Amino acid sequence: MTHRNNPKQAAGEQAAQLVKNGMVVGLGTGSTTAYAIKELGKRVASGLRIMGVPTSYQSAYLAAEHGIPLTTLDEHPILDIDIDGADQIASFTAIKGGGGAHTREKIVALSSRRFVVVVDDSKCTDILSHPVPLEVIPSARILVVKQIAELGGRAELRMGINKDGPVISDNGNLIMDADFGAIDDPVYLDEAISKCIGVVEHGIFTGVDVIYIGKKDGSVEILESPGT
Ligand code: A5P
Repeated sequence: MTHRNNPKQAAGEQAAQLVKNGMVVGLGTGSTTAYAIKELGKRVASGLRIMGVPTSYQSAYLAAEHGIPLTTLDEHPILDIDIDGADQIASFTAIKGGGGAHTREKIVALSSRRFVVVVDDSKCTDILSHPVPLEVIPSARILVVKQIAELGGRAELRMGINKDGPVISDNGNLIMDADFGAIDDPVYLDEAISKCIGVVEHGIFTGVDVIYIGKKDGSVEILESPGT
């Protein structure tokens, strides 16, 4: 099956074939993962037995709409596989959180035996430079701007579209975006932002196991991390 002109669909649907009977599956957030969730829904309708752990209201609602039984990390603390999108990816490190879901996405990714990222080829780069999404405790907003500046970045509140004021995450916190320009050392920045008081979680994901890259001609390139 090819999806000319829809590389996200090609990547999402092909990655969904990794899911086997009996698996507990992390269901990522965003438009690329949505294709994987819909494909899993079709497979469930044909007899596949799985349970999904959603990473957002978006993925929970979509999974329910497509007949995928849901569970929680309390019931299934270790997942077999997690399929999720990314805003940018280089050397098996992703920047995520364009939809503000990166906190739950990271919890689910780190709870999974295999973390699979699905992207179109426009997301692939040699050096990460996408602003890093932050989930921030509301009272720490100004302190976080100061701490990010000390790390050489510029943090701004993400403002709502079709909503006045700031974007509020599914967990009730602010979403900010921190621009660092080119990120030469994402592992250092991952650890440095994690130490910022008031940042619940940030969008640098260093432990990607597999990348499904959809191309404009409908093909999908699969990259496996040497560490897996
Ligand atoms: C959600 O917060 C994000 O991490 C998404 O997974 C990421 O923005 C990719 O989204 P798309 O697949 O819609 O580009």
